[in-house]
This record gives sequence, structure tokens and C-alpha cells, in this order.
Amino acid sequence: MKTRILGKTGYQVSEIGLGCWQLGNNFGPVEEQEAQVILQAGLDSGIRFFDTADVYGSGISESRIGAWRRSLVTPPIIATKVGRSAELYPNGYSKASVKQSLQSSAQRLGVESIDLAQLHCVPRDVLFSGDMLAWMEDFKKEGLIKHFGASVEMLDEAQFCCTHPELASLQILFNVFRQDAVSELFSQVEQNNIGVIVRLPLASGLLTGKMTASDQFDKQDHRSYNQDGAAFHVGETFNGLPFAKGVALVDALKEKLPAEHNILDVSLRWILDHPQVSSIIAGASRASQVVRNAAASDLPPLSDDMHALLKAYYYDEVKAFIRGGI
Ligand SMILES: NC(=O)c1ccc[n+]([C@@H]2O[C@H](COP(=O)([O-])OP(=O)(O)OC[C@H]3O[C@@H](n4cnc5c(N)ncnc54)[C@H](OP(=O)(O)O)[C@@H]3O)[C@@H](O)[C@H]2O)c1
Repeated sequence: MKTRILGKTGYQVSEIGLGCWQLGNNFGPVEEQEAQVILQAGLDSGIRFFDTADVYGSGISESRIGAWRRSLVTPPIIATKVGRSAELYPNGYSKASVKQSLQSSAQRLGVESIDLAQLHCVPRDVLFSGDMLAWMEDFKKEGLIKHFGASVEMLDEAQFCCTHPELASLQILFNVFRQDAVSELFSQVEQNNIGVIVRLPLASGLLTGKMTASDQFDKQDHRSYNQDGAAFHVGETFNGLPFAKGVALVDALKEKLPAEHNILDVSLRWILDHPQVSSIIAGASRASQVVRNAAASDLPPLSDDMHALLKAYYYDEVKAFIRGGI
């Protein structure tokens, strides 16, 4: 597993990280034992960067990571998020309430100081007021957090965050189905030494190539209840694509790929071929997926021809169908 520097944090993070939303039972129930097996499979595969949030299972994901972390001699970097709990979202943001949320996260994670705390897709007016970023600066001075970053939905939000001098990282949607950050963001993150954390690298599993339009998902799974954005931003589920359209687009892409390439490897490798990216936090519902995804770090870069093919595919065939904006 290769590592990269995560922006101003200076952390050496694994190119492939582990997204831990599913450990909050948000994709259907995950047994306690299975959660520990998934985390350990990550570590054993060289993963040194884990992403969670206080709201994933109302603290369950953080608590599971915390319990596991306590058993480790050299714990990996653990990033969490703040800003979407019922106490804060959508209009309960105050310095005291955000601090309280972070203190609870630190307790669940079993740390005195959080490695990286990210604003969690807070409402646009809250983000653009700048207050929350200013509070994060203070929490960093106090030692409650070591670094802070932001997870955002839209590229204009990411661009705004880049102007903050202490922001260490940005978590964005970036994959074969969402390529605009290359032209709209990456020069700015480079100039400001901001680490890019990529979420939804597989467009909620579409880009594994395993899905069919008749697939059904657990009723607890956001891929069942948020397909059209009923519960939260539509872009967070299947990258904003209507599910059947997403499956059809994947099938079309499979036709274009040379026989030696499979869509999962191509999708992860395409992201890693952008040096601005520090880590990909792929989700995984079982240990075998973690191991499979970790191996992408050792694949060779894609050819220029492959990059040209994927760029044309995105702009000609995919972009127009993404809902929720970019
Ligand atoms: N607002 C935010 O800040 C925000 C929002 C969303 C996500 N995130 C973060 O991003 C992480 C990743 O997002 P995500 O899990 O939604 O999307 P993802 O990584 O694009 O997709 C993960 C899903 O793809 C399937 N998968 C993964 N690897 C596979 C493999 N090797 N073979 C077959 N199937 C595979 C699994 O589906 P099955 O379960 O069907 O097997 C898995 O649940 C989250 O865990 C979270 O940490 C943050």
C-alpha cells in the first residue's frame, strides 16, 4: 500500500482508506463481530486512514472504531465529522454545541484530541458565514482537534473552503461519474496545500459493475430510501444518478473498456491517477471488499488513451444525468 501526504496535516495516509458509514448500520445491519473483522482487514491490507462521523448510526460507527482502536499499539489516522447530528442540523449551530459534539466524538473514539475533524456537509449559509471554520480554529488551539477539514457537496463550497488558511483537507465526491474537480478545484487545492479525500469512489457500488437494475436494497440502506434524495442530498446516493440510468451507464462503459480492464479497478485507479488526491475512502460491507479495494494502490496508472476515453464518456454520456448539482 502506497501512502501520500494529507495536505497540511502532514499525515502519511494510505492511498486507499476505509469509509465507515456502513459500520453505523446505515447500509443494513452489520454484526459487531463483522465490524471488527472489516476494520482489521483494512489494517492488515495496509489501510492507515479511516473515515467516520458522529451521525453514522448515532455514534455506533465511532464507538466500534474506538473499541477497536484501543486494542492497537499503533493506531491509524481516524477522521470524523461534525455538523449533521439532530442537535445541530439544520439550524442549531453554536460554538458550544459544536464543541459538545466533538467532545462526544473524542470520547467514543477513545482519543484526547481528534486526528481530523471535518465539517459534515453543513448548510450552505452556515458554511459561507465562516463561523464554524473560526470555531474549529479555536478547538484546534485548545487541543480538542489536531486538524480540521470539510466535507462538502458542491464545488463552489470546496472552492470557498480553500480560502481558509488553516483548512487541512477537503472531502469531495470524485469518481469516473463526477470528474469536474479536475478543472474546477485541483489547482486551488494544490496552491493551498489541501489534502483531497475522495468519498463515494464507486458511486455507492455502481462502479463495481456488479449491480443490475432489478437489485433491491435493505430498507435501512440509503440506496433504498434515498435513491431520489428523500432523506438527504441526492448526490450521496449513486452519485445523484437515477439507479437504472446508473446501471445502464456502467453497462455502456463495460462495452468500451478493453478486455484486460475491469470497471472496479479502473474506477479506483482513475482516481489515484490524480496526484491531488490523498486518499480514497471506499466503503465496504465485507472484509473481502476491503482487501480487493486496497489492492488498487499497487495497480499501474491508466494509459493516456484510457484517461481520454473516460473523460469523453463522462462529459458526453454521464454528466447530464447527475441530479443535485455539481
Ligand atoms: N457527506 C459525507 O461526508 C459523506 C457521504 C457519504 C459517504 N461518506 C464517506 O464515504 C465513504 C464511502 O462511501 P460509500 O460507501 O457510500 O460509497 P462507495 O465507497 O462508492 O461504495 C461502497 C459500496 O460499494 C460496494 N463495494 C465496495 N467495494 C466493493 C468490492 N470490492 N466488490 C464489490 N462491491 C464493493 C459495497 O456495496 P454492497 O454493500 O452492496 O456490497 C459498498 O457498500 C463512507 O463510508 C463515508 O465514510 C461521506
